Amino acid sequence: MFKFHMPTKVIVGENCVLNNPKDLMLGKSALIVTGKSSGKKSGALDDVIFVLENAKIPYHVYDKVENNPEISDMAQGGRLARECGADFIIAIGGGSPMDAAKAIGVYAVNESGEDGEFKLYDIFKGEYKNKPLPMVAIPTTAGTGSEVTPYSILTLHNEKTKKSFSCVDSFFKVAFLDGRYTVSLPLQVARNTAVDAMCHLIEGYTNKKASPSSDYIALEGLRIIGKHLDALESGSLALDACTELLWASALGGIVISQTGTTIVHSMGYELTYFKDIPHGMANGYLVYEYLKRIDSKRVADCIGALGIESLENFKEYLEKILPRVCNFTEKEILDWSEISIKARNVASCPYQATRELEIEIYKNSLLKE
Ligand SMILES: [Fe+2]
Repeated sequence: MFKFHMPTKVIVGENCVLNNPKDLMLGKSALIVTGKSSGKKSGALDDVIFVLENAKIPYHVYDKVENNPEISDMAQGGRLARECGADFIIAIGGGSPMDAAKAIGVYAVNESGEDGEFKLYDIFKGEYKNKPLPMVAIPTTAGTGSEVTPYSILTLHNEKTKKSFSCVDSFFKVAFLDGRYTVSLPLQVARNTAVDAMCHLIEGYTNKKASPSSDYIALEGLRIIGKHLDALESGSLALDACTELLWASALGGIVISQTGTTIVHSMGYELTYFKDIPHGMANGYLVYEYLKRIDSKRVADCIGALGIESLENFKEYLEKILPRVCNFTEKEILDWSEISIKARNVASCPYQATRELEIEIYKNSLLKE
């Protein structure tokens, strides 16, 4: 038995926001959630404002989302949504603004605070008295897939890690994928995010929870990314390629909505939290060591779909596009593994993941100079 659930309407193509204004407007007053620069630089914020002003829909812009959003900031965003009377949310940006929007959508209608019945950490329960606000997503990077997942990854400083929540209503209602918004991304950002999408597809395909539907989508996503590996290496990504990579990234999101991720992601969170390594890059350092330990034809299927000859060639490719950014100590690895082995997605790993094994993977990862 398997289930397939993906309730987001996905609209793909150049100028898709401007050409589909009705799909953007889910209510009478909008809160636009974005980062300090992602909305403006990509051109997406201008398109959204143009559509809203044309339709005389009032809006507020919350552009305080930092990378790796912190939970208490999200509650603050929820308060702003209440104060300005927003009845829907438009998220513009990479994974952080989209994940932030999902949390803000919950806090907007479930008041958090010392005295309130809904406490800050109740968001992780995944069941709420009031349904989150309806949301639209406009990704400005091609990697997270957050626009088609119910997951929101929040940073918890007191636990020194990231933790995800999801609920049946935290899927976006609509996602707009336009390569115009990603075509001028810095090359390393385009590479890191493509590696993140690749990891979603690979971790989904090799996951214990993989199903015929997720398998089919995962291999198609890897095949699309495979077409653009040379351009990702040389930095010559054209507009069409950017739209295709956005679609592949969404396919990765659809896959992990069914399967979840594995230890690549749970171990990667520690590299991001403690070493400030971008999310996709962190996963890229770990994925080869993860795959090396899988005794299944599925590894060859993934590598083959990417159009790469062998797992060793895959490693060489990752080494070419990911810079060596840091070193680490024995003590750091012990600390990271102690946290990451407790993550939920450890159970989805196709082999028995232990702390000792995670220590070995960190030690041998491509992170090492
Ligand atoms: Fe990811």
